Amino acid sequence: MSDTWTPQSWREKPAKHIPDYPDAEKLADVEKTLAGYPPLVFAGEARQLKADLAEVAEGRAFLLQGGDCAESFAEFHPDNIRDTFRVLLQMAVVLTFAAGSPVVKVGRIAGQFAKPRSAPTETQGDVTLPSYFGDNINGIEFVAAQRVPDAERQLRAYSQAASTLNLLRAFAQGGYADLNFVHRWNMGFVADSPEGHRYEELATRISETLEFMKACGIDATSSPQLQATDFYTSHEALLLGYEQAMTRIDSTTGDWYDTSAHMLWIGDRTRHPDAAHVEFMKGIKNPIAMKCGPSLEPDELVRLCDVLNPDNEPGRLTLIARFGAEKVGDGLPPLIRAVEREGKKVIWSCDPMHGNTIKATNGYKTRPVDRILKEVQDFMAVHRAEGTHAGGVHFEMTGSDVTECLGGAIEVTEESLSDRYHTH
Ligand code: TRP
Repeated sequence: MSDTWTPQSWREKPAKHIPDYPDAEKLADVEKTLAGYPPLVFAGEARQLKADLAEVAEGRAFLLQGGDCAESFAEFHPDNIRDTFRVLLQMAVVLTFAAGSPVVKVGRIAGQFAKPRSAPTETQGDVTLPSYFGDNINGIEFVAAQRVPDAERQLRAYSQAASTLNLLRAFAQGGYADLNFVHRWNMGFVADSPEGHRYEELATRISETLEFMKACGIDATSSPQLQATDFYTSHEALLLGYEQAMTRIDSTTGDWYDTSAHMLWIGDRTRHPDAAHVEFMKGIKNPIAMKCGPSLEPDELVRLCDVLNPDNEPGRLTLIARFGAEKVGDGLPPLIRAVEREGKKVIWSCDPMHGNTIKATNGYKTRPVDRILKEVQDFMAVHRAEGTHAGGVHFEMTGSDVTECLGGAIEVTEESLSDRYHTH
């Protein structure tokens, strides 16, 4: 970290994908208000996550990160939070049991509002308006008044993140995540599918194991970790004014932490070494991640590792590969080799979502489930061939009964995409 870093030093650098607010005074007021609000996470928790992730970096654990593409004000409901959480629990328990490896659980939740857009404006007919950038910035409805960036939305996003996190903490620690409830996490709408049945079988084996352990004298009284789990939050650090307002000095270490989430990531579109987003991420001590797409050159990656993780601390930096099923096999090995050659300690995670988006013939943006699976399989195969650790996965996912991907356990077709296509 250079001597000149401050939470606002990013403002001196070129910033992409941050909208222009017409009312600068209101924006400054909102940021000041946010800076006076309580932190959402505690620095010690971010350090604990970094320590857990260091285990992943050393090949002794696995990272599971996932949640909605973007949270919205309209879909803010306790049932939605619970359902996302329980799918993550299901995935985590399957991975823990099947791989016999600890799983670090990180939600893409409680702050994942902003959406980087390829175009700053959207045109419908002869009307051109600013694009929709996420509920923390403007409204999705295609009318001028909704599309103007409104700083007040950041306050609402903060309060939604705070109550989401509050419920997640209660679920993780208050009994919902108890391994004895492993059967109850199965989602109603998939329970009858072949995948639902496979989950039931595995859950039964876990229950039997718990019974056996109980008979041996190991239960929640002797081992409280059976009935609770550590659950962390993350989102893309896109709206830097908000992130700056949430960045505070940790009184126990004197270091800066972004207290809006435990973990933050930089997108594939904002990872330029000399630009604002990298500048901001440099100085916060949270564990961070960076998306790596097909345009990233090995030399640039090495440079970014130096900038973002100068002390080569394991657990600090996660690289999230998002190549697309067709490209990961050729695109990933040169990056892994560069990182290995330079001795960089990183976690490799696989995002099989963002490189596999296609447009269905009826116009819906979608992803075929078999492409998603293929990218994960190829990612694993590349790591096996390179002798490196396939450290984790990053999923866009929901616990709601939607039809947004093609194929899967309940074969969704192009025709049925429109049944419950809910994404923002
Ligand atoms: N505490 C352990 C862990 O988080 C075991 C555990 C409890 C667990 N509840 C869980 C694992 C739910 C997966 C899912 O790994």
